[in-house]
Amino acid sequence: MTSTSIHGMWSSRLAFILAATGSAVGLGNIWRFPYVAGQNGGGAFVLVYVLCVALIGVPIMIAEIMLGRRGRQSPINTMRALASAQGASSAWQLLGWMGILAGFLILSFYSVVAGWTLAYIFRAAGGGFTGLDAEQSNAIFLALVADPERLLAWHTIFMGMVMMVVARGVASGLEQAVRFLMPALFLLLLVMVVYAAQAGDFQAGLSYLFKPDFGQLLEGGGDAILSAMGQAFFSLSLGMGAIMIYGSYLSSQASISQNVAIIAVMDTLVALLAGLAIFPIVFAYGLEPGEGPGLIFHTLPVAFGQMPGGQFFGLLFFVLLMFAAWTSAISLLEPIVAWLVEHRSISRVRAAVWAGVTVWLLGIACLLSLNVWSGLTLFDKGILDLFDYVTANVLLPLGGLLIAIFAGWVLKTTVSRDELGATNGQLLYQLWRLLVRFIAPAAVVLVFLNAIGLI
Ligand code: PFF
Repeated sequence: MTSTSIHGMWSSRLAFILAATGSAVGLGNIWRFPYVAGQNGGGAFVLVYVLCVALIGVPIMIAEIMLGRRGRQSPINTMRALASAQGASSAWQLLGWMGILAGFLILSFYSVVAGWTLAYIFRAAGGGFTGLDAEQSNAIFLALVADPERLLAWHTIFMGMVMMVVARGVASGLEQAVRFLMPALFLLLLVMVVYAAQAGDFQAGLSYLFKPDFGQLLEGGGDAILSAMGQAFFSLSLGMGAIMIYGSYLSSQASISQNVAIIAVMDTLVALLAGLAIFPIVFAYGLEPGEGPGLIFHTLPVAFGQMPGGQFFGLLFFVLLMFAAWTSAISLLEPIVAWLVEHRSISRVRAAVWAGVTVWLLGIACLLSLNVWSGLTLFDKGILDLFDYVTANVLLPLGGLLIAIFAGWVLKTTVSRDELGATNGQLLYQLWRLLVRFIAPAAVVLVFLNAIGLI
């Protein structure tokens, strides 16, 4: 196997951590986590989510990076090469194909929601949040999603931004952006938590997030548990090859397990901080935690409208959220573009344009589902909600399950031991093997079976 990728390499271990954290931390933490937690009753959901991160997410992230680094190609070709090297079926490349499908679907709605963030940057800059009450804030959000032209404009701008970076190659540009962005986002979230602690109903927010009410979880049937697992995959960028391709640009010397621990802890902290910033305000203003995807766009402007310096903080918040979404979106497009470059021998620029335009078209269907096509539903969900639900709760866990099986059962232990470093300590390696061979796959299968009502 080669020791470098034709698509470029990270300049350092820190660059990889930043890029992978940039991929993990995004709308999933700040937009999706609070709204899905709210829909599933809070505390018990959060507990299951954290358990899924630790017992399923972490071992699978180690596996995904390891496979990427070993293969050093796009996920499709990596899986094909690794399978053939192990004497396994070439059907394993289907895992890469599934990832491409998931990437297209996720990015199409992700870009539309990132577009909402862009719209809110301009509203914040213009002082549009000043003195808002909850009702006015809701009206602003509803007016935005009811307007296909505005949604299209923002979606187009965001996809243009993503294509621009991916066309230049992720190693240049991305590293610089994330280096200052992550600490800034973290600090600002802390400021907002402090504000929420003073002005909001912090006690209610805290107990909502951290006091598990298992009745709620059971009431939701298997769906709440499935959503918690799906959120863990989505938030950690697992199961579709995004982290795999980032792993393929990582130097052979870097310790995978150490990096994964850092990324998983940061990602989880950001989600919990977002929850702590939002729910106290939700309760202080009598808002509905389970209202759905509009939750932060409805809630936070009310807080910014009331807090001292709110115009500045509001602007800063949505700018940082946009950057966080940008660095995640880049990782969603990268596996597709790397594959196009390898398979069709076209330039990176052309590959980025082709892939980007396809996503852009799918995104139009998503944004129309919020207004013109709102009557068009499947399983009671419009296109955007359906893409969101199916990718996070089905495609990503399925991809993760296959990655775990491949890394735990198909890949020779000499390879995995070599990748994880003999100095890693036998015990840690054994623990990872136990998780990736038995615990993680069994957990994913049980959650699936539970969700469809078989257990
Ligand atoms: N992890 C990103 C977020 O939390 O916003 C979203 C994401 C990126 C999901 C890359 C999946 C992925 F492969």
